[in-house]
Amino acid sequence: MRRTSWFQLIAIGVIAGAIATAVAIAVPWLPTSASKQADRINFTYWFATVICLVIFAVVAAILVYSIINFRAKPGDWSDGPPVHGNTTIEIVWTVIPAVLVTAISVVSAIVLAQNGNAGSNPLRVHVLAQQFAWTFTYDNGMTTPILRLPLGRPVRLEITAADVIHSFWVPEFGQKQDAVPGQVNDLVITPTRTGTFPVICTELCGLGHSTMRSSTTVMTEAAFKKWYAGSAKAPSPGGGGGTAGAVIFTKNGCGACHTFKPVPGATGKVGPDLDNLSVSAKAAGQSLLPFIKQSIVDPNAVVAKGYQPGVMPGTFGTTIPPKQLNLLVAYIAAHTK
Ligand code: CUA
Repeated sequence: MRRTSWFQLIAIGVIAGAIATAVAIAVPWLPTSASKQADRINFTYWFATVICLVIFAVVAAILVYSIINFRAKPGDWSDGPPVHGNTTIEIVWTVIPAVLVTAISVVSAIVLAQNGNAGSNPLRVHVLAQQFAWTFTYDNGMTTPILRLPLGRPVRLEITAADVIHSFWVPEFGQKQDAVPGQVNDLVITPTRTGTFPVICTELCGLGHSTMRSSTTVMTEAAFKKWYAGSAKAPSPGGGGGTAGAVIFTKNGCGACHTFKPVPGATGKVGPDLDNLSVSAKAAGQSLLPFIKQSIVDPNAVVAKGYQPGVMPGTFGTTIPPKQLNLLVAYIAAHTK
């Protein structure tokens, strides 16, 4: 090849590579990482991306160069020279991809192993997913609808589901884990940034799937310790004051679908507002307490106007122990109009 041809080939490769690199860097493809695990996943992405960029530049250079220089001239209908195989090229284009794919799989395997390792002293949080709410329970018995985590300490989430398959996802933490009934799946997170991030259900789980969101707050270690110690003394929704009924209400995720003013954070819009149940009970020809109980245990018996049957799970009669169910019914009755 003449020197000008090499120059042309390399110039095309550099331009194609530069354009592709600009697209890779300028577009925010991934959310800003907030955990060590997400950092490692991002590293794996970039490792593979850099390899792809180089391959893209080489292929684009040869392709564009060939189109420019080896185009058939107008009126030229002759065949090209008969070529059969080229052992050197075949070895090169087999060995290089094999080495690259092996390198990617080795890096991925190391990252996967590191991301699954919670170390010797992780904070344990039990995660319960149910239609359509998240409940987080700590080793001190504290139950909350918002996941609070300390900065820098490995956390092992033990994720399960009460009804159907859900999936736990915090984009900034970089990982997803399925929540499966009758099974506990682990997910390790080591937060690297304080702040509040969304918790999203990422498995289609019913009509309220899109509303099945909560949030996670990463606190400094000192702030977390203070909250954790305080929450042990006064277990309650959100962490400050509350009755047993409110705790049961929160624990079962009622606030994810229903608005109920006495419970902080109960602002769900999937099901009817629970603040004016006397009117609904009267319309159903029942007195308040049995009406509330029936609506929890057998939600399709009377469906509020403007709402569809089959949205609220019919499993609460078995998942909430009878004593707690009575407390919950009494609590709602005492606080509704
Ligand atoms: Cu739970 Cu989607």
